[in-house]
Amino acid sequence: MIMRTLSVKRLLVALLAAPLAALALHGGAQASEAGYRLDPAPIDPNDQVSLQSGVRTFVNYCLNCHGAQFMRYNRLQDIGLTDQQIKDKLLFTADKVGETMKIAMTTADGKAWFGVAPPDLTVIARARGADWLYTYLRTFYRDPKTPSGWNNAVFPNVGMPHALWTLQGERALKIEKVKDKAGHAHVEYHWSQLSKGEQSAIEYDRTVRDLVNFLVYLGEPAAESRKRIGVIVLFVLGILFVFAYVLKREFWKDVH
Ligand code: HEC
Repeated sequence: MIMRTLSVKRLLVALLAAPLAALALHGGAQASEAGYRLDPAPIDPNDQVSLQSGVRTFVNYCLNCHGAQFMRYNRLQDIGLTDQQIKDKLLFTADKVGETMKIAMTTADGKAWFGVAPPDLTVIARARGADWLYTYLRTFYRDPKTPSGWNNAVFPNVGMPHALWTLQGERALKIEKVKDKAGHAHVEYHWSQLSKGEQSAIEYDRTVRDLVNFLVYLGEPAAESRKRIGVIVLFVLGILFVFAYVLKREFWKDVH
């Protein structure tokens, strides 16, 4: 009997430890492949105002080059928009709300113009993660050595020009390799503002936050209902467990 309780305890500890370890790993500061430290994206999938602002930025600034061909416009009712609002505010490239978010540019044109075809962004948040996107969209800088005149701190020599530069303004980045007293080399990043954008730094961060919020939603539009269903399922299983336990006690009470 003692053996049994011991192993049950161990099993419980193991069951609890796994998600905790995953949480700890997730919470640690992540760095991009370029070594630039990623800023945590302060997104909230339940904030419909933020999602609506995000889809507006997406349609106005990204959809000319990138498509989201697995998203239909009328699915945006999920984030609190009516068909009429979708028609009035978001439909530039499509005619009907039932169409997917496609673009007119072909892959060949994209390659010819930018060296690389702009990828479809439907599942980009799942591929890159929200923190990567949030940092990427805030770390473009002027670089006369690239074909587009732009470079990026987390995606060096990216083929994409800074699509939001009128909002953020133009910035420069000096990357310096320095050695500390112990002789360890590390890289320091020095940002400077070359020209002012339409938005302040705080407003710009908020614009990108909303945009990334939308990109995350785009990657899994059903995520919120999936989580809600998950909670209900766990709750029902919990109740079932109580009944099963009482039943088991009832069955075994005469055996011991
Ligand atoms: C002028 C065309 C253009 C516009 C506008 C544009 N992009 Fe891009 N984007 C590109 C190209 C080209 C690439 C491919 C870059 C590469 O691989 O070097 C790219 C790459 C990306 C990537 C990286 C994809 C990867 O490889 O992981 C992301 C994320 C992205 N764009 C997001 C956006 C968002 C969000 C917007 C709107 C704010 C936007 N882009 C607007 C052309 C554009």
